[in-house]
Amino acid sequence: MKDFIFEVGTKILFGEDQLKHLPKEIKKYGNSVLFCYGGGSIKKLGLYDDVVKLLEENGIAYSELSGIEPNPRVESAIDGIRIARENKVDLVLAVGGGSVIDCAKLIAAGYYVDENPWDIVVGKVKVEKALPLGTILTLAATGSEMDTDSVITNLETKQKLGWGSKHVLPKFSIMNPVYTYSVNKHHTAAGVADIMSHTMENYFSLNDGCYLVDRLAEGILKTCIKYGPVALESPEDFDARANIMWANSWAINGLLKTGKDTSWSVHAIEHELSAFYDITHGTGLAILTPNWLRHVLNEHTANKIAIFGKNVFGIEPSGDKFADANKAIDALREFFDKMGIPKGLRDLGIGEEHLEEMAELTIKHKGGPIDGFITIDVEDVLEIYKMSL
Ligand code: NZQ
Ligand code: ZN
Repeated sequence: MKDFIFEVGTKILFGEDQLKHLPKEIKKYGNSVLFCYGGGSIKKLGLYDDVVKLLEENGIAYSELSGIEPNPRVESAIDGIRIARENKVDLVLAVGGGSVIDCAKLIAAGYYVDENPWDIVVGKVKVEKALPLGTILTLAATGSEMDTDSVITNLETKQKLGWGSKHVLPKFSIMNPVYTYSVNKHHTAAGVADIMSHTMENYFSLNDGCYLVDRLAEGILKTCIKYGPVALESPEDFDARANIMWANSWAINGLLKTGKDTSWSVHAIEHELSAFYDITHGTGLAILTPNWLRHVLNEHTANKIAIFGKNVFGIEPSGDKFADANKAIDALREFFDKMGIPKGLRDLGIGEEHLEEMAELTIKHKGGPIDGFITIDVEDVLEIYKMSL
């Protein structure tokens, strides 16, 4: 196990009766907020009205940025920065899923930067400070409410890139599982797949002595496998939504990578799909992951994949680690089938036309071959795309 420093400074207010604390949390930072949200789901939920009422009753001024897109665009962040400056806000309040929170992170950092915020995303401008950020999460998937990362799309350059800064870690996040009852089947399934992918990106590493975090990761995966189908079947099952929501935060807040090197191969491969085709992130991950595992299966990795099969899916060892690993990969794909996630990229309207370009860009955006569970280069990514068609 390698040396590590683990610190997550986000205050979590979890459960059904936590929204009432919003004014108190905001007032720690000031009296004026930029209220960011997406395409209107929070209005249907009644959450928009509840937030406005609390702000008004407590004398907190607010300006709004609405319409933040799934796979949020840099243009939305540019608008948000302008509105935040015009109103001299003290805090950015993001109410929604990962896209709204990620966009709010870029607004918070871009507020203090003269350059185009895209320069932050591509790493040309270093983030030295940011407006404080608070979130109210309405979709369990990305863990953005408790991490330092943000993923932004630039449709003009066909780029979807992640960036991060400790300055944009949310100061507080309100997490009420009831808000996620209205998430439709497609996004519920994609969210569960995203949580599982974050967990697996951390989990699949070799010989690092990180026994404890691997068992924690298996616990998160088992939670998704137990409660994902329940949430699809009974969207208002509180325990299902609550356990998935809490799993979502711990899959990516840094705990599961303590003491180890991680490479995040599948996310890099998926981000090109979203950039080119604007697909739902978690759906892309669920299609790619079993094929990635099949591609990286070799003499060195088979044992870990077989352990995953035993501890997560209960596949008893047969004495043949390759057979066990293949069964584990089958079980993962069967689970995604059960969640109603399409099997192949063609089901999403993706053909062969851009595969080579996307494979090259995957490696370019990672700054070279991805050194992880096994090292992945352009031809590997291309093969994984082809297997996933
Ligand atoms: O826009 P609204 O109307 O709010 O509708 C959203 C959107 O259409 C809807 N939704 C959200 N909460 C709802 C709801 N509908 C009904 N009831 C609710 N309670 O769901 C749709 C998808 O929302 P979005 O925020 O895009 O989903 P998600 O949370 O999965 O975020 C995806 C984005 O996060 C990035 C992804 O790449 C993608 O751009 N990621 C961010 C990460 C991070 N910050 O650490 C890591 C992830 O790996 C990921 O890359
Ligand atoms: Zn993800």
